[in-house]
Amino acid sequence: MKRLAIFVSGNGTNMENILRSIQDGKIRGAEVSLVVSDNSQAYALKRAEKYNAECVVVDRKRFDSKESFEAEIKRHLERKKIDYILLAGFMRILSSSFVKTYQRRIINIHPALLPNFPGAHAIKDAWEAKAKTTGVTVHFVDKGVDTGPIILQREVPIEANDTLESLERKVHEVEYKIYPEAINLVLEGKAKPKKQGTKKS
Ligand code: GAR
Repeated sequence: MKRLAIFVSGNGTNMENILRSIQDGKIRGAEVSLVVSDNSQAYALKRAEKYNAECVVVDRKRFDSKESFEAEIKRHLERKKIDYILLAGFMRILSSSFVKTYQRRIINIHPALLPNFPGAHAIKDAWEAKAKTTGVTVHFVDKGVDTGPIILQREVPIEANDTLESLERKVHEVEYKIYPEAINLVLEGKAKPKKQGTKKS
């Protein structure tokens, strides 16, 4: 049984979808041993309660440096003997030293077709760029920002009658499908990560 930690900062719908997928047997061979939030007000913490998932809040403001903040997170991960870290709306950049410690063991979901629209506002950025298509990417985290090798990617066309809100809904629906699929691929040793290509304009 692999031991997962989910890192969150906000709403937590992807986290809840992972917890539910494990409960329903759609993600196999793993349990969520820890939820880590950098935000004590994150609604994700309320969602996690329903699944009796152990949560810790590690507030960046309480630490003098990124190094000591991450050292505290690592202490919790070691305490819980975590095998994989799943980022699910965790809005902080992890240092290259942290990433190195968990090489190929940190997975992120990003709401765009990377390498297009990296960063914190990907759905809005694709919408404002009037892109014809966007999507969702699940990837291993490397030391860059949203640059790591791709595990799964799925397209979401932007249609003439879409609004930003309808696009957000469609992107999230795809997230709830492909994050569990990608997690299963990694857990089963079947992931074939691909280097990111070049940006399409
Ligand atoms: C998700 O759409 C996720 O892809 C995105 O934040 C949202 C979190 O929603 N992550 C990023 O933009 C990372 N760059 P959730 O808290 O309801 O899962």
